[in-house]
Amino acid sequence: MIVTSHRGAGFLEPENTLRAIRRAIDLGADQVEIDVQLTRDGHLVLMHDETVDRTTNGKGKLSELLFADLRQLDAGQGERVPTLEEVLDLTHGKITPQIELKSPGLAPAVIATLDALACTDRVILTSFLHSELAEARQLYPSIATGALWGRLPNDVVGQAKQLGVQALHLWHQFITPQIIADAHAHGLLVRAWNANKEEEMQRLIDLGVDAIGSDRPDVLSEVCRRAGVR
Ligand code: G3P
Ligand code: CA
Repeated sequence: MIVTSHRGAGFLEPENTLRAIRRAIDLGADQVEIDVQLTRDGHLVLMHDETVDRTTNGKGKLSELLFADLRQLDAGQGERVPTLEEVLDLTHGKITPQIELKSPGLAPAVIATLDALACTDRVILTSFLHSELAEARQLYPSIATGALWGRLPNDVVGQAKQLGVQALHLWHQFITPQIIADAHAHGLLVRAWNANKEEEMQRLIDLGVDAIGSDRPDVLSEVCRRAGVR
């Protein structure tokens, strides 16, 4: 089973920081999920929310902050808000980044950064903003993409096929045996996200999903080991 550590390792360390990503690597996770956005002056950095208020000691919208000012902030335990470049450097050869494009207009900058660091073939791009994934694929047709849905549409597998993504990234409670069977029949992967309780993880293992994302990669790895899928 592919273990994905969510927001770096969001429950164990300050989310979306290098410290959290190091923890995911140390725990032996296969993939690490991160959230990416742009500062006012065009730097790609890790941040989940629109503002820096919840995760740093600063205030304000990320899109209105200059990178130099953002870097003064404490993102938890003295960590700085990292750049995408720093993450690509840290993860190289150790763990696969699952990069969520959080806001509109990110695709060109993300592809340019991946290209510059020769990382385009070793990441997965995800987004609730499906047009971002389409744009990323126009810029680099073989980039791996997975679509996220906030609400489950009627024909999620049909939508994924139409979008041209390789994987459905679904909130764990949306996933049914039927969805998995349909997706697999069409050559699509199903990756679950935000399963944080053991019983949720076990249900997904029993269903046969292709990957599970969790804020508790430590617990998830153990549940997978006990189930004999790791
Ligand atoms: O992997 C998908 C998940 O990260 C989406 O939710 O709010 O944690 O970005 P969120
Ligand atoms: Ca995310």
